[in-house]
Amino acid sequence: MAIHPLYTDSLNKGMLKIEHVTNVIATSKYNPFYYHGALPQFFLWVLFLSGLLLFAYYIPTIDQAYAAKEMINAYTSVQYITNTIPFGAVVRGIHRYAGDAMVITILLHAVRVWFTDRYRQYRIVQWLSGIVLFVLVLVIGQTGYYLVWDERALVLTRMTVAAFDVLGPVGEPLKWWFLNGRAITNFTLANFLFIHIGLSFSLLFFLWIHYVRMQRPIVTPPPVINYILMALVVVSVYFWPLHMEPPAVMAMHPTTFDVDPFFLWPYWLMSKTNPLVFWILSLFLVIGSCLVPYGPWAKTPPVPVAEVVDNKCTGCSLCAKDCPFAAIEMVPAPAGSRFKLLATILPYRCSGCGVCVGACAFDAVDLADIQDADITARIKALASSQS
Ligand code: HEM
Ligand code: SF4
Ligand code: SF4
Repeated sequence: MAIHPLYTDSLNKGMLKIEHVTNVIATSKYNPFYYHGALPQFFLWVLFLSGLLLFAYYIPTIDQAYAAKEMINAYTSVQYITNTIPFGAVVRGIHRYAGDAMVITILLHAVRVWFTDRYRQYRIVQWLSGIVLFVLVLVIGQTGYYLVWDERALVLTRMTVAAFDVLGPVGEPLKWWFLNGRAITNFTLANFLFIHIGLSFSLLFFLWIHYVRMQRPIVTPPPVINYILMALVVVSVYFWPLHMEPPAVMAMHPTTFDVDPFFLWPYWLMSKTNPLVFWILSLFLVIGSCLVPYGPWAKTPPVPVAEVVDNKCTGCSLCAKDCPFAAIEMVPAPAGSRFKLLATILPYRCSGCGVCVGACAFDAVDLADIQDADITARIKALASSQS
């Protein structure tokens, strides 16, 4: 059992109380808290689909962005999508608000797993890959703002360059990579598009890492929740249609910009402090989040690891199929065995949950030092603490 200081316990209880209240309103079948991981995943699919439609009409160049509005360039192509393509403004709005919703639901998901103490030990890969996912999502969202190539995009691009400048020799190649050259050119916008789309696809890789240690992650909410979420996004598009700032003019130096609280808060932070403070705070936040599972509030005695009694194992694989943390590997049985396979426990993944003990009909798995009676007592204690 985890030893928590009072405040972690209170957060856990608080979170569970909110879930109970939501159960009363939405019933446990449709309680969004029970699909907290699936919610950002849903918005990711919405973003891929709406992004694909926008991509069909988007032109990543800055040529004459300010001189001739009829000319095709990034700004005018976004204008064309918004004003001329049927439902273009809706698709653009859905893309923007689904991004905002993804950030909100990721935060809800992260807070939920933290407060309910489901984020460390055998879940460490999920926690760390989650942080990578969150940082990536923020960067992808920010590059989305550059693509419009309006005044805000120009300010953000220049602020990013200034942020790289303070990094000295490390910042120089980063700046070159970011601008795709020494200065802002057509190549820069092509690079922004590449980063935006390329990083979006890299999310799939990190999601694979995120899920690899979970046997049956819940990745889709019930359709009703999807419909409600989609309806909320469309209603937002209706009530808060997207506007465009004036086109970027390279000769001008705008200093103010509208802050999207979900993606652009790092720029707000930079504008209120300076690039160095921004880097230090960002580093502090990322490293701090990675260290959360190792803090004094997360001290626990080691979990009892399952053990296979080799000479009883028939290699039926039932335990491996049932293990929630993919902690059992079926390996070829040693020479001379009557069976083909043998179950092997990967101790660093094992949560000591005992599911494999129940799954095995041959009495071939034990939980180290724990008797059946202990397990029953623990289940009873847990059940009464949740009621
Ligand atoms: C793109 C963003 C993300 C997506 C789509 C996502 C999705 C998911 C899904 C579907 C699950 C399985 C949930 C279940 O079966 O109940 C999960 C589990 C988990 N996620 Fe995420 N996640 C994301 C970001 C994060 C972040 C930012 C964190 C924390 C820093 C995080 C930490 C975890 C942890 C610790 C688990 C294991 C929870 C458990 O075993 O109950 N995830 N995630
Ligand atoms: S369920 Fe039992 S017998 Fe079957 S593979 Fe697992 S340990 Fe072996
Ligand atoms: S106790 Fe068994 S089922 Fe549970 S995580 Fe460990 S190996 Fe998997």
